[in-house]
Amino acid sequence: MPPKSLKCKECQEEYPLEAIYACSRCFGPLEVSYEPLDGRDPAELKRRIQAGPNTLWRYADFLPVQRPPEGALPTGMTPLIRADRLGKELGIDELWIKSETANPTHSFKDRVVAVAMARGLELGFKTFACASTGNLANAVAAHAAAAGVPAWVFIPADLEREKITATAIHGARVIGVKGNYDQVNRMCSELAHERDWAFVNVNLRPYYAEGSKTLAYEIAEQLDWRLPNHLVAPVASGSLHTRMGKAFDEWRDCGLVSGPLPAMHGAQAAGCAPVANAFEEGADFCRPVKPDTIARSLAIGDPADGPFALELARRTGGAIESATDDEIREGISLLAKTTGVFTETAGGVTIAVLKKLAERGAFGPGESVVATITGDGLKTPDAISDLIHIDEVEPTVEAFENLELVGVSA
Ligand SMILES: Cc1ncc(COP(=O)(O)O)c(C=O)c1O
Ligand SMILES: [Zn+2]
Repeated sequence: MPPKSLKCKECQEEYPLEAIYACSRCFGPLEVSYEPLDGRDPAELKRRIQAGPNTLWRYADFLPVQRPPEGALPTGMTPLIRADRLGKELGIDELWIKSETANPTHSFKDRVVAVAMARGLELGFKTFACASTGNLANAVAAHAAAAGVPAWVFIPADLEREKITATAIHGARVIGVKGNYDQVNRMCSELAHERDWAFVNVNLRPYYAEGSKTLAYEIAEQLDWRLPNHLVAPVASGSLHTRMGKAFDEWRDCGLVSGPLPAMHGAQAAGCAPVANAFEEGADFCRPVKPDTIARSLAIGDPADGPFALELARRTGGAIESATDDEIREGISLLAKTTGVFTETAGGVTIAVLKKLAERGAFGPGESVVATITGDGLKTPDAISDLIHIDEVEPTVEAFENLELVGVSA
């Protein structure tokens, strides 16, 4: 499916495949559009995918690069795990967890960076940059190190220490901005005009967004070329949620999968829920909010793709829901105890919303549900430190035998 142009999502004006992201006619966001695939044999497309590498580059036919990069960090093909114990707990007949913790920097952001960086290098950029809530910073720093190019990373200065460490260690220049993510993002939008840098989520945003599609392709392939009935994904800017919808649409159009789109549910933290609020109010636009939540990776108060996430959820019979900080902590703990997957706060949001949807009867008997766990719990240990208890003893068996265990039934 060769990429054809960048197309305005509002007025359909077309632009060349360069480092631009906004329509000069109406300021709408630009998105990669492809030559139609009609006439290609789906069986042949499937064979090409299956013969590809065990990374997201097996989907190169659906990505906006001329050819997959060589020597890039191997990203994607993360496990889709059948979660029967969690499903039983929540009353869901067929539940799957897509664990993005298995990516090189332990979040789904490796996907967007892999694609944006490949395209940025093709366009001749020598320096990479981003505005980040943490995980994107990790990914840009690591992929830049692997590619041997310098990286500049802009984050809110008070971000989780683990995320800062996992970024700086790769040699990236980390700039802690004294403000929230929305301020960091505005600053980077201005900087992108000043400097000849590839800001992966600013001037390369149309290519970056395409990387998220690969998460949806994998789910469909791993379900043996079947679409689930429901998908639950976290929403910050709304790029991941909406691009997974785009991916399923593309694969339906070219006959790789059939049937209706999954109900596309979105999950936000109650302390930063501009999209969930608009969904509840029946509004088409999101009123910006000032984030205040432990889910720092989702703390975007003015989400660029918010209106599109609303449209996708409504069109597919999904919902955008929110979860409080306590529910997020419970979600992290529940997932860990029933599946062995330890997620960061964003995954706690996803599981908390999954639970709410299940309680509300959103999932019918026999329906399949996939919950995307987009990042690793080792990056946000402080969020759940109050839930953790260890028993200490002197190094003797006697001391152990006499230990009064608190909260353990064994
Ligand atoms: C772990 C994690 N999950 C989900 C998201 C949401 O991504 P998007 O901005 O595409 O909605 C982010 C964004 O930073 C993230 O770090
Ligand atoms: Zn336009």
